[in-house]
Amino acid sequence: MPATVILGGQWGDEGKAKVVDFLMSRHDVVLRFQGGANAGHTVVNDDGTFKFHQIPSGILYPDVTAVMGNGMVIDPFAFRDELGELLKRSIDVAGRLLISSAAQVVMPHHKFIDSLMEGELKKNHIGSTGKGIGPAYSSKHSRRGMRMSDFLLSKEELHELVTRSTEWGNRYVELFGAPPLSAKKIAADFVNIQELISPMIIDTQELVTKWKADGKNIMLEGAQGTLLDIDHGTYPYVTSSNCSIGGAISGSGLAPRDIGRAIGIFKAYATRVGNGPFPTELEDETGDCLRDKGREFGTTTGRPRRCGWFDLVAARYAVNLNGLEEIALTKLDVLSGQEKIRFCVAYELDGERIGYFPQNVHLLNRCKPIYEEMPGWPDQELGRGDFEDLPENAKAYVRTLEERLGIHASFISTGPERSSTIVREDA
Ligand code: GDP
Ligand code: IMO
Ligand code: MG
Repeated sequence: MPATVILGGQWGDEGKAKVVDFLMSRHDVVLRFQGGANAGHTVVNDDGTFKFHQIPSGILYPDVTAVMGNGMVIDPFAFRDELGELLKRSIDVAGRLLISSAAQVVMPHHKFIDSLMEGELKKNHIGSTGKGIGPAYSSKHSRRGMRMSDFLLSKEELHELVTRSTEWGNRYVELFGAPPLSAKKIAADFVNIQELISPMIIDTQELVTKWKADGKNIMLEGAQGTLLDIDHGTYPYVTSSNCSIGGAISGSGLAPRDIGRAIGIFKAYATRVGNGPFPTELEDETGDCLRDKGREFGTTTGRPRRCGWFDLVAARYAVNLNGLEEIALTKLDVLSGQEKIRFCVAYELDGERIGYFPQNVHLLNRCKPIYEEMPGWPDQELGRGDFEDLPENAKAYVRTLEERLGIHASFISTGPERSSTIVREDA
């Protein structure tokens, strides 16, 4: 069966992991195709709450094979810790958690340089999660990165390579006037985890070719969101990978025609963590209310997320860019109890009304939202089964978003648990 891609439609944290987990029962394998430990993916099921950063969220199903794809940048030490947490909770991953030999390694100097760069930017800092993502992708693109396949070298060769890589990184560290990292210590740390990591390394191009031949149902798990995409997001306030549809191809090794379904995940409102333009941001009581009710605090950093109304202009941009026909609309329950619900239908830019999402961040910074509004619905539990059982105004809100975006909301999420999901695929 062709692959299903799960993509963030906004600035991340849309509830991608919840949808991956929900749909995983129909799939055999899951592959994360970009990003690294900057992601925080939350799954809530009968066994409790699980927070994933690098390991694909689909792993909670015991028969699923989970792969960290070639498009990722992997911090091996953070991976060890995340794996340890899963094992502590009796999730057996033996033989079914694999790492692409072509994925890049996040080195300690990448994390250090990330923090040094942010410190230097001062008030203009990106708001990076500090996980070394930007510097790791920089090394990849300048062809100075280490790949996960390097864990398959001999101990001596790995030691030598890590030493050289760290010494190279120290040249950048020196530019900031910061003390160099100990290449010797880092090389020893790498050698120490080699035995844990090396059995999981696999040639993923061979693997996906086999999956296709065997007719496996493939899930591609995205991280971050379209508006954080390095090419298409609100540059420079973005992450350093392609988190829109193109990244699903380059980061997995699948071909465009292998993709059967791309589902964009959108919150019923908007959030952003970190800096950068956010036209519908609410810096008032309503914003605080959405943050409290939606528990909008970063999964990775614990930072409060900036909250605002749904932005149709930005969402349409994501729909067009990714070629979406269907979405999952999450956190509808968080809007319950709002007397009026607003959504942005256009921007005012220098006195003119515009209907597009400017690529130029300087223009986007000057855009003011133009809103329409609808009556809300009472603060009540939203149903889990039938769309028709939702309050009339909630249904009207969903239908309005569908019409204005020209898409179908195949899934509506009304709570964090796996079971709080309304399926409308046939509606
Ligand atoms: P991701 O990065 O896109 O996977 O999303 P995160 O896990 O970072 O953030 C989404 C948060 O919202 C998590 O805490 C989820 O448990 C929670 N969540 C997901 N769907 C819903 C929903 O429909 N309603 C509520 N109230 N919470 C949800
Ligand atoms: P998930 O997968 C929300 C944001 C950071 C910062 C910018 C750059 O959970 O949706 P980076 O560490 O990548 O250099 O940070 O991107 N960011 C995210 N925001 N969800 C994420 O992932 C994010 N990953 C990065 O806050 O503004
Ligand atoms: Mg998240």
